[in-house]
Amino acid sequence: MDIHVKPLEILHVTAYFSKLFMALLPILRFPDPRLHIKATPVETMDASVRQLIHDMTETMYDAPGIGLAATQVNVHRQIIVIDISEEHNDPMVFINAMIIERSGEREGEEGCLSVPGVHEKVIRAERVKVRALDENGQPFELEAEGLLAVCLQHELDHLDGKVFVEYLSQLKQSRIKARLAKQARAATGQT
Ligand code: NI
Repeated sequence: MDIHVKPLEILHVTAYFSKLFMALLPILRFPDPRLHIKATPVETMDASVRQLIHDMTETMYDAPGIGLAATQVNVHRQIIVIDISEEHNDPMVFINAMIIERSGEREGEEGCLSVPGVHEKVIRAERVKVRALDENGQPFELEAEGLLAVCLQHELDHLDGKVFVEYLSQLKQSRIKARLAKQARAATGQT
């Protein structure tokens, strides 16, 4: 056995162990009333916030999804993670985000990790400009359009206590609730 460890191997081992300490967080499912709690702004970027961002990112990738709001993991702080890249290697973090401009309109199909298996059309702004803090607490502004714009509006709704199915008719919402209740019963082995 060679006692010399090359730097690359040390890096590899570190990455391996850091993966072990990552936590996948349980995602609340519609119509859980906790999805309607309004998130409050993050005051200080401390270790607990950084850990939460880390865990939320892993939970989003594991699901898999392209966006996750802290509300969905039952933490009611204004934190969003998004990754719309094909390779899932470009995570974006939005803390205390607000939309400062919106324009245009588009209708697109949306899904949500809190409403598994449901995809429905929602009308959103085509373009939005967002002001937020990054994971280091630095302010930034971003102009988004298309999928990123839709994703930001969807996740910001979560922080405001709103799930995308609430844009649908009452009839559709009742059907979705019934379907999810059936899924939940099946998952716990009840009939
Ligand atoms: Ni969602």
